[in-house]
Amino acid sequence: MSIAVVILAAGKGMRMESNLPKALHKIAHAPLIAHAMQAAAPLDAQKTIVVVGHEADAVTEVAKEINPDVLIVHQGTQLGTAHAVAQASPALEGFEGDILVLYADTPFISQQTMTNIQNARADADLVILGFEAQDPGRYGRLVTDGAQLKRIVEFEDASDQERAITLCNSGVLATSADDLFSMIKKIGNENASGEFYLTDCVKLACQAGKTTTVVKCEEAETLGVNSRADLARAEAAFQSHARASSIANGVTFLAPGTVFFSSDTVIGRDAVIEQNVVFGPGTTIESGAHIRAFSHIEGAHVARGAIVGPYARLRPGAELAENVRIGNFVEVKDAQIAEGAKINHLSYVGDANIGQDANIGAGSVTCNYDGLMKHKTTIGSRAFIGSNTMMVAPVNIGDDAITASGSVITRDVPSDALGVGRADQVNKIGLAKKLMNILRKRNQKKDLD
Ligand code: UD1
Ligand code: MG
Repeated sequence: MSIAVVILAAGKGMRMESNLPKALHKIAHAPLIAHAMQAAAPLDAQKTIVVVGHEADAVTEVAKEINPDVLIVHQGTQLGTAHAVAQASPALEGFEGDILVLYADTPFISQQTMTNIQNARADADLVILGFEAQDPGRYGRLVTDGAQLKRIVEFEDASDQERAITLCNSGVLATSADDLFSMIKKIGNENASGEFYLTDCVKLACQAGKTTTVVKCEEAETLGVNSRADLARAEAAFQSHARASSIANGVTFLAPGTVFFSSDTVIGRDAVIEQNVVFGPGTTIESGAHIRAFSHIEGAHVARGAIVGPYARLRPGAELAENVRIGNFVEVKDAQIAEGAKINHLSYVGDANIGQDANIGAGSVTCNYDGLMKHKTTIGSRAFIGSNTMMVAPVNIGDDAITASGSVITRDVPSDALGVGRADQVNKIGLAKKLMNILRKRNQKKDLD
């Protein structure tokens, strides 16, 4: 059975109190629309359609970036979820399979649940994904009669008796394309919100003698994001889930609750993650690497056996090979650090290539930016960079070269050479005492004045 997915993302999200369209609010650094598209990915849909409206260009750009094959349709005015689905009809002209409707604000539907929905379609013309809510709040309520789903009543339209129902609508619906579009044509807007509700499909399906059913899933999967409070809850839910699955995959955490993931963070088995570590987007930590406390890592790749932190910052393009050591208050950006190299204290390494087993002394800086452009620093294998060396890029330091502590290196240092770039030291004998006496006198005079 071929399948098309329609993701509704046209709403403004009034309850978010935001200038940003709701679909672009982020959970674990990825926009809601990305989570919804990812949830739909296992279905291997023949077509994926995203319905955009409010801030259409911004939402389109993000959706296309995630999947260039996605089809975009516009909903000029947001007249309700049924009206939104209706806009997808021309894009699905001639399509004869099943349609699965997802809401962009419902980001966590699992692969297993998607499979359960598909399987349930074998026995029912219309499948709705529902859940038992702890606190049903403003969700639509599912009115059932045995296994048959009779109708969905929106919170605003529900009687007290209906509001007492705890079985709620997730927003996910699956049916054939034919049935969906013929039902949608019949949906009106005579309800408390004056909107065209997609949820009215259930009532219409029953009237047409079709079979309907509810597939249930965990409430955690159907969390709908309508407000900032929901967004914060969704973030917390994502983080707990990411921690639990990382633990199940063999990662050691000293305090899992203090570690924060991005939607795409990958951590290999036997890695150790200490307390208060934050992973930004695009990070891979290989097996057996050790991330020490209070480190911030994004867009970085950390190979096996590397040790990072405490208090390290890895920025996009940081590539750490095996057994690299990055210590406290070290920042690395767009730099390849070869096997066994060490940058242990208080350094900035950006736009650089650091050779195998090189040692970068405390307080050293690659001066990569001239105020206009970025320049590259290359440091050879086994090079020893003395503490507080300023490497004014573009500059190359050869294999086995040494730079003297406190040097400002403005020219290349050849292999095996010692680069000294600092003023000669002069010792003025007895001058320390003299200087102190002068200062004391000045101070006394000031007190008398
Ligand atoms: C909807 C359901 C409700 C369900 C809840 C689950 C309806 C009528 N109600 O309510 O039964 O319990 O989701 O989270 O479907 N959208 C458009 N165009 C529109 C209106 C909405 O694209 O004209 C999109 C929104 O961007 C959003 C989704 O559809 O992604 C759902 O809309 P929303 O307003 O959040 O509906 P809820 O009130 O949450
Ligand atoms: Mg919603």
